[in-house]
Amino acid sequence: MTKTVAFDVAEGVAWVRFNRPEKRNCMNPTLNREMMVLLDELEFRDDVGVLVLGGEGTAWTAGMDLKEYFRETEALGLGAMRQADRECFGWWRRLRWYQKPTIAMVNGWCFGGGYGPLFSCDLAFAAEEAQFGLSEINWGILPGGGTTKIATELMSFRRAMYHALLGESIDGRTAAEWGLVNEALPLERLRPRVAEVASKLLEKNPVTLKATKDAIRRVGEMTYDNAEDFLVRAQEAANSFDDQGRREGIRQFIDDKSYKPGLGAYARPGSVR
Ligand code: ACO
Repeated sequence: MTKTVAFDVAEGVAWVRFNRPEKRNCMNPTLNREMMVLLDELEFRDDVGVLVLGGEGTAWTAGMDLKEYFRETEALGLGAMRQADRECFGWWRRLRWYQKPTIAMVNGWCFGGGYGPLFSCDLAFAAEEAQFGLSEINWGILPGGGTTKIATELMSFRRAMYHALLGESIDGRTAAEWGLVNEALPLERLRPRVAEVASKLLEKNPVTLKATKDAIRRVGEMTYDNAEDFLVRAQEAANSFDDQGRREGIRQFIDDKSYKPGLGAYARPGSVR
């Protein structure tokens, strides 16, 4: 357990939490460093098949820490600013390409820099009561650190422009409608729903999950032909890690008739659950 990040592991799921509730979980350099250490520690643990990122208290994260990440770091000069950038971009990037599937569980406030980890997580579920905002415009900067890019990746041009220029917050339900999260549901149902999704992910072949989540992130920037070629090679690479999985999947359907791939995953001996 670190100071600014909390976690526990149960039934194959690592429940990681931003842990500065008194500061609405805003990200200071300490949190960015401690989160990277924790992600490192959890990534290849055999008892972790899915990582969920939530927040302690009323916030998911109120974005970057305006005092410690901006004012105090800027006072130390360019080197310190670049170092602070590297530390937060580092763990967000780490999370984007994480070995295990990741789920953002947005319980409350999510502002500005918070869109970094939001986008880094493969799936996102929010409380209807949560509030999302690109508040940068309200205090005099543009949505930096990848946030503008994320806005245009996740939302339509008009919505991204409105969201960034007006700096108004939207609730979880609107965030789902605009594509920032997969679903919004009442706060008391958020964790059970995330646990349910995590449990479904744990039934899948982990090699295939990693290949699939990376493919979804990669192909967006490719031409159709490049994507076609990349996906053939990605599948061949996945086969080299686990050649038995798909053979077993076919066997249980065609020979055993024990399941239907259209309706669920094949039974995997030795799964993390
Ligand atoms: N940076 C630094 N401190 C913060 C931040 C932040 N992003 N967010 C909250 N805090 C601190 C407050 O200063 C306060 O500290 P104090 O107790 O020492 O006075 C404490 O956290 C609690 O915050 P309140 O404002 O009292 O909490 P409240 O629940 O009333 O409001 C809200 C929550 C709406 C999230 C508000 O704190 C807020 O607007 N925070 C800033 C959100 C923001 O714009 N973040 C930056 C986005 S841009 C970017 O990330 C690059």
